[in-house]
Amino acid sequence: MDPKTIICRCSDITLEEVRQAISDGYTTFDEIKRVLRTGMGSCQGRTCMPLILREISVMTGIPQEDLNPGRKRPPVNAVSLGAIAEGEDHDYES
Ligand code: FES
Repeated sequence: MDPKTIICRCSDITLEEVRQAISDGYTTFDEIKRVLRTGMGSCQGRTCMPLILREISVMTGIPQEDLNPGRKRPPVNAVSLGAIAEGEDHDYES
């Protein structure tokens, strides 16, 4: 695969950058996310996470099923300014 191939479309991160991060010792999805911001785009890593996990597996020799897919956070929900101004109560626990 061409090293200039975009792996994370949301953050324009190339395969070359991912490989460099792994070579630098970042060998988990969360570590790569912290240094390259992969997985932080609007798709929340749905596109790039499997590709990055596969690359980590290839470069480290760790089977892909043994890799931690990283921590997932729910997408942010929009709150209207009116709701904030009115001080509407929200059930943040559900
Ligand atoms: S492609 Fe990486 S976060 Fe969307």
